[in-house]
Amino acid sequence: MKPALRTICIGAMACALAAGSAADTRAQQTKSVKKVQAPRCSAGATTRLVRYKVERGEALPAAIPKPLTRKPGDAARGLEAAADPGKGNCLACHSIAKALAKADQSDPQSVRTYGNHGEVGPPLNGVGGRYTPGELRMIVVDPKQAFPDAETVMPAYHARKGVKDVVARCRNQVMLGAQTVEDIVAFLEELK
Ligand code: HEC
Repeated sequence: MKPALRTICIGAMACALAAGSAADTRAQQTKSVKKVQAPRCSAGATTRLVRYKVERGEALPAAIPKPLTRKPGDAARGLEAAADPGKGNCLACHSIAKALAKADQSDPQSVRTYGNHGEVGPPLNGVGGRYTPGELRMIVVDPKQAFPDAETVMPAYHARKGVKDVVARCRNQVMLGAQTVEDIVAFLEELK
């Protein structure tokens, strides 16, 4: 009987300990979940689709020569938005030397944000010399129109075609707002 009792006792203690640590873990999880923002329609700042006119480009069959906003794009903010995994996440598919140069090697968070580049798409170095601002805008807004033969995997950041089953409150919302698109285009223009 005695050994059995001890076993039960040890088991019970182990259970109590396990229950305690599970409760602690749950409390920690609840705490960290509270810090995470509620789901939004898009990862970037949710904004309505802005109307734009598509014209013929020089190197590409389509371009949007007129900016989407009156306020000119800010290249420094464009780099931030391009690197931000919750916004452009462009580095998931493209390497950009200018972003890499911003990675602070002594800061793991900075290295994660600016120093982690994929190669699904071509490197974007020099892209400001290869395309007009209107073409760059078209590529970011809706790359399927910019590269009609490619069936590209690049997302359309400011377009609402080809999607269904969207939560009702998110209809007509786009991945990146017009001003963020302009910021990114300003940044790309500087990559010469
Ligand atoms: C899922 C991967 C993916 C993401 C994310 C992505 N792209 Fe692309 N991008 C591509 C691919 C692939 C191409 C090449 C076109 C093709 O053949 O599909 C491309 C092409 C381009 C080009 C033309 C490059 C050239 O030299 O012709 C530019 C400019 C560009 N992307 C900018 C961006 C920007 C800016 C972002 C973020 C806002 C971004 N891309 C996000 C995959 C991606």
